Amino acid sequence: MIKLPGLIDPHVHLREPGDTHKEDWRTGTRAALAGGFTIVLAMPNTRPPVTDAETLSLALKAAGEGACCDYAQFIGAGAENAAAAGQLSRQAAGLKLYLDQTYGPLRLDALADWQAHFAAWPKHLPISVHAEGRSLAAAILFAGWFDRPLHLCHISTRDDILLVRQAKEHGLKVTCEVTPHHLFLDSASLDHLGAGMASVKPPLASPADVQALWDNLDVIDCFATDHAPHTLAEKQSPTPPPGFPGLETALPLLLTAVREGRLTLDDIILRCYTNPQRIYRLPVQTSTWIEVDPDARWEITPDHLQTRCAWTPFAGRQVFGRVRRVVLRRQVVFEDGVVLAPTGSGRNLRLESRRKFLPNGQI
Ligand code: NCD
Ligand code: ZN
Ligand code: ZN
Repeated sequence: MIKLPGLIDPHVHLREPGDTHKEDWRTGTRAALAGGFTIVLAMPNTRPPVTDAETLSLALKAAGEGACCDYAQFIGAGAENAAAAGQLSRQAAGLKLYLDQTYGPLRLDALADWQAHFAAWPKHLPISVHAEGRSLAAAILFAGWFDRPLHLCHISTRDDILLVRQAKEHGLKVTCEVTPHHLFLDSASLDHLGAGMASVKPPLASPADVQALWDNLDVIDCFATDHAPHTLAEKQSPTPPPGFPGLETALPLLLTAVREGRLTLDDIILRCYTNPQRIYRLPVQTSTWIEVDPDARWEITPDHLQTRCAWTPFAGRQVFGRVRRVVLRRQVVFEDGVVLAPTGSGRNLRLESRRKFLPNGQI
């Protein structure tokens, strides 16, 4: 058995409010615990999207009632909310800009709107972006121009990872994440999954792109699942929405890569704990860890998943490594396939009062 810190997933979609037929705070955070994650950062492309004080409190109310692990909620950048978003920065995981078309209504097209957000969001806090190709290059330009931390979500291609490398070499304050599906699936998966089931933003890339991600591991700051559940019926419909669930398969896939000599355990800890904690300035969870059996061999199947969407693009894959136990703030919250965390026991890591009382950053 090996002991690891509670993992941090800086990119999940929990679908509440609005799309609880796909997922909600309870089911999504139960999936997190089952996957070894004790902190999730929730994306703002809900219905309604989280863009102001009112919608933030709607999301946080649902989180307060449902969350089983600790969390923080992103604010989404819209055309009109730069000032309002800036004022909510201390209550948010971060600010999220969608610079390309993806799932949901949040897409920022006008450069003037990007500029307003880059100017209004506090300089020391990160801005996270969905940006591919030329949008990525433009976002990196803004990071330099505004001299501020910028986190680049789900990098998936050779061109993009090399762009991130060059930006870092130029001293820009950029960090990036890569998803397990972009590391362990490629465009050939379209054949057996089918186009709808394989649909994800950014799309599954060529084997050469995937190899480039592995070759540039040193540039990758975080592994983030981009857990983006949609129902099987939606994925199999004529208009399949993009996205995969990922919380319950990430760690076994990464541990299997350790076994194959493609990664080390330290690579995982750095990218699933140390770096996301540093980038998003998250507090340390005391008396929190996970216990993993690295030798447990099993086949990924859609059965027994905690996520409401109840399917996975990795079905049929043989993996090594199983989460046996998760301890969150001294409580056993997951053990041998059973989630034990009481619904609503997760904590909002951006709650002012908690930070005020514990200035050492501990919760
Ligand atoms: C995400 C979703 O469904 O919310 N989908 C996806 O394919 N990644 C949106 C996103 O992260 O871009
Ligand atoms: Zn995205
Ligand atoms: Zn996402």
